[in-house]
Amino acid sequence: MNVKVFKTQAEIAAAAADFFCEVLLKKPNAVLGLSTGSTPMLTYEALAGRSAAGLADFSAVHTFNLDEYWGIAPEDEQSYRYFMQKRLFDKVNIRPENIHFPDGLAEDAQAECARYEAELAALGPVDLQLLGIGRNGHIGFNEPAEKMRAKCFCAELAEATIKANRRFFAREEDVPRRALTMGLGTILSAKKILMIATGENKAGAVYSMLRGEISGKCPASFLRTHGDAAVLLDEYAAALI
Ligand code: GLP
Repeated sequence: MNVKVFKTQAEIAAAAADFFCEVLLKKPNAVLGLSTGSTPMLTYEALAGRSAAGLADFSAVHTFNLDEYWGIAPEDEQSYRYFMQKRLFDKVNIRPENIHFPDGLAEDAQAECARYEAELAALGPVDLQLLGIGRNGHIGFNEPAEKMRAKCFCAELAEATIKANRRFFAREEDVPRRALTMGLGTILSAKKILMIATGENKAGAVYSMLRGEISGKCPASFLRTHGDAAVLLDEYAAALI
């Protein structure tokens, strides 16, 4: 994996935006894999800036997000769909019909996962997949487990993840316990992967991802099997490597 360490989060966001712009220049109808959480916020801000400056054109782009909470409506402020709308989609010239998401309100989670997987298979593979990492090494909602799931599935959130994501909700009991997520195989089928990790609370997960064994104990460690994966870190997240 190509690891780069930066001084500031603004530098990371600019470097990440460069990755996107390069892909979009080469392939205006690229399929972008997107992620949520606090980590990509500055990257989306940088991308919105590039778009406003005429340096990134989203008019032919398709996006597929990694995951969505199950049981939460797309217009709910806690949904990942809402997050993406506010942080990126409202600020760039993407066509609404080109935005792809798992439907958090689908009654049949399994059928919804199959639908999402098929939608991605029809338009994909993803040209550039943006990822964050959970403190326990999860990617998307692929939590540490003995066996990893290849395709999109309905995941149960690990206790650590519920605690980490608690900050976005009024009460801990409001944090959804399940989410629809791309599987590890789906994530790894992206042509290019870009992982961002910042802050000291990610240092342990980053160490396991880069230096630990490649196993379900740290789902992100499987990124080392990908031929074109880059990791952008700040000094805090890179402290243990
Ligand atoms: C969430 C998401 C992940 C994200 C991770 C880290 O649970 N499912 O896609 O990468 O947590 O989030 P943050 O960037 O807020 O630390």
